[in-house]
Amino acid sequence: MSKERTLVLIKPDGVARGLVGQVLSRIESKGYVIQAMRMLNADRALLEEHYAEHVGKSFYEPLVEFMLSGPIVAIVAEGERVIEGFRSLAGVTDPTLAAPGTIRGDLARDQGTKVVQNIVHGSDSPTSAEREIQIFFKN
Ligand code: RTP
Ligand code: MG
Repeated sequence: MSKERTLVLIKPDGVARGLVGQVLSRIESKGYVIQAMRMLNADRALLEEHYAEHVGKSFYEPLVEFMLSGPIVAIVAEGERVIEGFRSLAGVTDPTLAAPGTIRGDLARDQGTKVVQNIVHGSDSPTSAEREIQIFFKN
């Protein structure tokens, strides 16, 4: 199977809690290659593009506000089946239910916030991955 790329985001909670190194380490230890990386303060326009599929959902506005609340790290990771592989490393969306051993299961929990804070984002399909990489790495 040919190599794939995925977009990983370390969300503001992950950066604020000093977990950038741990997330990178888990990606690299699994054997994926970090192809590109940048730290940024996302603006609303960028997040609206990234989260277009969630417009109108109850968690959309809290999600955008949360993603605006501090710096994030955008990463392109590469490897065979990295899209599903990273989502497996991340664990399920709800950190209370994410399996121990996963990023969300080990490092996050319900904080009682309006939107669930779960450290990382990972693209969910090849189409999403290419679309999202273009948003965060325009050149
Ligand atoms: P991600 O996109 O961040 O990798 O997460 P995901 O695929 O596991 O979850 P998705 O459904 O795409 O949702 C995107 C992010 O929105 C927040 N969310 N909150 N019911 C809720 O409170 C809820 N549902 C989603 C989470 O931050 C989730 O990661
Ligand atoms: Mg998603």
